[in-house]
Amino acid sequence: MSAVQSYEEKLATLSEGSVRLSFNAFKDIPWDDPAYAIVPDDERWILPTVDPLGGHEWYRSLPRDRQIEIGMARMANICKVGWQFENVLIKGVMEYLMDVPNGSPEFRYLMHEVTEETHHIQMFQEFVNRTGADIPGAAGWFRVVQSVLPVFGRLLPEIFFTGILAGEEPIDHLQKAILRTGGDLHRSSCGSCRSTWPRRRGTSPSPTSSSPARRRRSTRSARRCCPSPTRS
Ligand SMILES: [Fe+2]
Repeated sequence: MSAVQSYEEKLATLSEGSVRLSFNAFKDIPWDDPAYAIVPDDERWILPTVDPLGGHEWYRSLPRDRQIEIGMARMANICKVGWQFENVLIKGVMEYLMDVPNGSPEFRYLMHEVTEETHHIQMFQEFVNRTGADIPGAAGWFRVVQSVLPVFGRLLPEIFFTGILAGEEPIDHLQKAILRTGGDLHRSSCGSCRSTWPRRRGTSPSPTSSSPARRRRSTRSARRCCPSPTRS
């Protein structure tokens, strides 16, 4: 195989990778582990200042309990918007596949992608359910318009999939901004903890923390200041 893969070769590589490594929302997340319990007084839900709402003077002036409550609701809403967006992606992919010829590597790759996205949706909604936050997700207009968007996955796939990528940018940007500050939701109220949300309380940081050295530092600082895992 040449150093530069063709489009078809890349699809084959990605498809084979999808068989070796895949995500299952109910196998890969220990939802019922007490360390993952969602409790109402956990200050790690306080929004960081890099978040548009978290950095607002009005939000910062609220009582701690109210900041926690709003922070949890905002994160739940972001997750719900995430799965609503992925719902549109899946439907657009299925429209696109209607015209894909037999033998196309696109078919297999896109079906792997759909499989993966269904688990993301399960993960997001399970998280929303566990917060108990009764949030709507996307705005009402989007939930109406989204019914017609998937057909563009077949009629104008370049525009449809570019739009999907663009739609992921805001949350990507927020996540990168949080990571750039070296912190998480919790760090906004605890300057010494450099862990990454959502991390198990009182344990090592999530795999999304950057370097091994930084993860070791995070673990040490977490031991100093994070809530005890027994607090649930
Ligand atoms: Fe996803």
